[in-house]
Parts: sequence; structure tokens; C-alpha cells
Amino acid sequence: MTKSRTRLYELSAAAYANGDYTGWFETLYAEAQGNSNAIPWADRGVNGWLVNWVETAQLNLQNLRVLVVGCGLGDDAEYLSKLGAKVTAFDLSQTAIDWCHHRFPTSQVNYQAVDLFTAPTEWKLSFDLVIEIYTIQALPANIRPNAIDCIGNFVAPNGKLFVVCRGRDPEDACDNLPFPLTKDELNRFTDTGLTQISFEDSIDTLDTTPTRRFRIVYLKFV
Ligand SMILES: C[S@@+](CC[C@H](N)C(=O)[O-])C[C@H]1O[C@@H](n2cnc3c(N)ncnc32)[C@H](O)[C@@H]1O
Repeated sequence: MTKSRTRLYELSAAAYANGDYTGWFETLYAEAQGNSNAIPWADRGVNGWLVNWVETAQLNLQNLRVLVVGCGLGDDAEYLSKLGAKVTAFDLSQTAIDWCHHRFPTSQVNYQAVDLFTAPTEWKLSFDLVIEIYTIQALPANIRPNAIDCIGNFVAPNGKLFVVCRGRDPEDACDNLPFPLTKDELNRFTDTGLTQISFEDSIDTLDTTPTRRFRIVYLKFV
């Protein structure tokens, strides 16, 4: 196991024992001191599943209001911004947000240190496209329903939600971070007025070990 993943397990276990399920992200980013190798998910590049979707669907993002959830070091937000979208990207870690500003000093992205669970009320129903990549899977089962509700509620009428996450069947083990999601868990998005318009279940062979991933697109019909 890499050093960064070992540290992630140490920090998250200690935080969980205190009933704190998200505070460890900031500690991990702060301890990294600008070294992205210390952040297990930071590959300093845009997510390939996102690029493939945007290109295959030939999306026109010009002037769309886009929200990137748990934006980490900002690569996905920058990609969407360069395609003409008006991007807001948030992460609960202030260090991660400062890092985005440092990496992209002339960025057009509106980066904000915001906790998903206490996001500004004016974000509700306000984004044409919401991007959720690998945030929900980094949260334990007891707070995921709330996370799903918060994310689904950001989507404006006629807007879309794009999700990429690890996937599993209900009987599969789910012991370690990142926690893969089941289709049933994801179905909760439909309670926020979203309709699933595509669901892909694939094995990602580009990872160090083959990893099952779900890529889902939802639409908020009005
Ligand atoms: C596994 S990382 C994925 C980061 C990025 N989306 C990527 O694909 O590289 C999960 C991110 O979500 C952020 N996060 C976790 N809980 C959050 C919350 N409640 N509100 C906002 N961001 C959160 C973490 O700080 C971390 O940057």
C-alpha cells in the first residue's frame, strides 16, 4: 500500500472513532504541504470518464452554470471552465481550495471552501450541470443519503447531474475507503426529482488494480 493511502486510513479511522466523518480531508491536504503525491486521488489531470462523456455527447457547455462537488485540486473544474462553462467548484478543505488558486492563478473558476452539508441555500436548483466524481464514495454509509440529497438538490430544472463512483453489488464487501456504491443507494437521486438517463457499469483497467466503476447521468425533467 502507498504511504499516502496508509496515512488516509490512519486519519479517517481516528476521525471516525470521534464521530467526525469529514474533518480528516483537511488534515490530509494540510499535511501534504503542496505535494500532490501525498493525496491518493490527486492525479493532476482531468477525469477521463468526464472527458469521454463530454466529447461523446458533444456537449456545448458555453455559459452553462456548472457546479463541481468536492473539487479537490481543481482539474475537472478547469477543464469545464476552458470549455466555456461558468464554473463554481467547492471543497470542504480550505487547503485544497488555496491549492487550486495556487495551481491556476488566472482561473475563471469560482472556487469556494464550502461543506456540502451546509452549502449556500441559493445553490439549490441553480446549476445546469452538477459534477460529482468520487466524493460520495469517500463518505461512510450513515451520511451518504444526506450527501445524495444535497447534491441532487443543486440541479436546476432541466439540468443534469453527472456521477462517477466505484460500484458494487449489495453482497460485495464494503470495508475500506473508498466505499463503492450500490445501484440502490444511487437510486436515491431520483427522490430529488432526477431521472436516470444513462447508467454504465464498467471495469476500469487503467487503475493499478481493475476497479468497477459506475458512470451515471441524470436529468431533472420539469
Ligand atoms: C476522493 S476526493 C475526490 C476529489 C476530486 N473530485 C477528484 O476526483 O480528484 C473527495 C473530495 O471531496 C471533498 N469532500 C469530502 N466531503 C466533503 C463535503 N462534505 N463537502 C465538500 N467537499 C467534501 C474532499 O475534501 C476531497 O477533496
